[in-house]
Amino acid sequence: MLSRVVLILLLGLPISQAAERTGAAVTVHPLATKAALKVFQQDGNAVDAAVAAALTLGVVDGFNSGIGGGCFMLIRKPDGTFSAIDGRETAPGAANRDMYLHGGRAKPELSRTGALAIGVPGALAAYDLAIRDHGNLALAGHLGQAAAIAEQGFELDDAYLSRLGSVVKKLRKFPDSARIFLDGDGNAWPNGHRLRQPDLARSYRAIGQHSADWFYRGPFALKTEQWMSDNGGLMTRDDFAHYDARRREPVQTTYRGHEIVGFPPPSSGGVHVAQILNILEVFDLRSMASDSAGFVHLVTEAMRLAFADRAHWLGDADFAPVPRGLTSKTYARRLAKKIDTAKAAKVDAHSTPPNVDTNLFGKHTTHFTTADSDGWWVACTATVNTTFGSGVVIPGTGIVMNNEMDDFSAQPGAPNAFGLIGAEANAVAPGKRPLSSMSPTIVLRDGKPIFTVGAAGGPTIITQVVLAIIQVIDFGKPPAEALGQARFHHQWKPDRLLVEKALGQVAIDALRAKGHTVKVVNTLGAAQAIGLGQDGKPFTGSADPRGRGVFGVSRK
Ligand code: GLY
Repeated sequence: MLSRVVLILLLGLPISQAAERTGAAVTVHPLATKAALKVFQQDGNAVDAAVAAALTLGVVDGFNSGIGGGCFMLIRKPDGTFSAIDGRETAPGAANRDMYLHGGRAKPELSRTGALAIGVPGALAAYDLAIRDHGNLALAGHLGQAAAIAEQGFELDDAYLSRLGSVVKKLRKFPDSARIFLDGDGNAWPNGHRLRQPDLARSYRAIGQHSADWFYRGPFALKTEQWMSDNGGLMTRDDFAHYDARRREPVQTTYRGHEIVGFPPPSSGGVHVAQILNILEVFDLRSMASDSAGFVHLVTEAMRLAFADRAHWLGDADFAPVPRGLTSKTYARRLAKKIDTAKAAKVDAHSTPPNVDTNLFGKHTTHFTTADSDGWWVACTATVNTTFGSGVVIPGTGIVMNNEMDDFSAQPGAPNAFGLIGAEANAVAPGKRPLSSMSPTIVLRDGKPIFTVGAAGGPTIITQVVLAIIQVIDFGKPPAEALGQARFHHQWKPDRLLVEKALGQVAIDALRAKGHTVKVVNTLGAAQAIGLGQDGKPFTGSADPRGRGVFGVSRK
């Protein structure tokens, strides 16, 4: 097993010739970081490295992400422009807004497990587009290297097994999932078991040989259609043929002299990271201790206001009008005035930003990020939604299918798996993309990237990203320290403030005294970050100290 320390690969060249090109990568799994660093040695850039990491994560961390799911990839190019590639899943053509209602009530199991839970996967289309637009190497090579890991297998560790153990019942329902991820008695594999995934390896190799068409216009689409028709699903080969990864315009705001670039709808991440930071810019956070009750209270109140807006206004902007005014500084100042620095506010409903008629834009999940000395920076968050998604593996393919349909609002006011509620803007419709919280973000100063961050963990993604940015910009912390700070999260409904135990009892008691309903948790989320290095080091970075991820640097 690779150690949890910085990996430095100096292959082939003497040190004196090194430093020509440097690449950095951070993912939640040592093998995925290693795959990304290897790509730099093969003259790949940060986009190649991110795709290699993504495909490897689909093998070694497949309960979080894979080509049966979706992703958002935010890319900063050496010329200073951005590319935001949307590989979010879409609802099948036969989907309809009431498909999860039974007797007038939302039936959560339908949108979380099995055939109806699955959206048309977009991750592979996004990786393919990213490589075609920006990569130096061929997708087939990245697929081949990840396929080799799937064939050879890897040892299951505690982190994998605890997630596997939580979904045994779900996986037992689907024979191919049980065959791969459970033992002959239908139990989770024991610690140290070497998980080999020959079907997934074959699927990766077939895509390498025949292109993504194998998936979207060929055998995989046909097999899925057949499985859906046998299992009460709606998805057809046409849904696959019509899928396209979209190029989007990133959301941009500023925060205390820095430029913040985030992902637009169907992510809610970029909008609400911007909105919360805009509200907080009104306050002097630097004068407060970042583990004090006063600081946590203030940031919580900003989170609460933003999530109330999220529940009402946010959805796929190709279908619903998402107001541009949500990220306006004027609106943020108006919201900031509602905050009482002494006590928790009651926020009954969303507010109404200016220009509501103007569209903003025509612990599941995983975040990984790469950068290179040519100026490419990539922040990518990918997911199959909850652990092992829908639980379905399409027979013979090894591909775990998402349950992203649960990120739609099944019914106004009915909470999804993360307790999030939504409205008409996020109702199910054919071809529509469910609202996401994934928030790949890049922070710049004077046009130069200085920090990139993203996270896993449903709606806590947004708040983790906000907290990391505040730690870096307001408190001057390097990435590892920024990610190590005690986290907290409020999403308006339920009216509950989640706080990591590490915040300490004094602050927790003081928050209760301010009127917050506090729930203390051991840990919250998983974020990864890369920053510009100092003292001759090109990059610094960190995987979340709460997990087993690895940051590494490669010099060639
Ligand atoms: N499935 C989690 C998210 O996209 O927010």
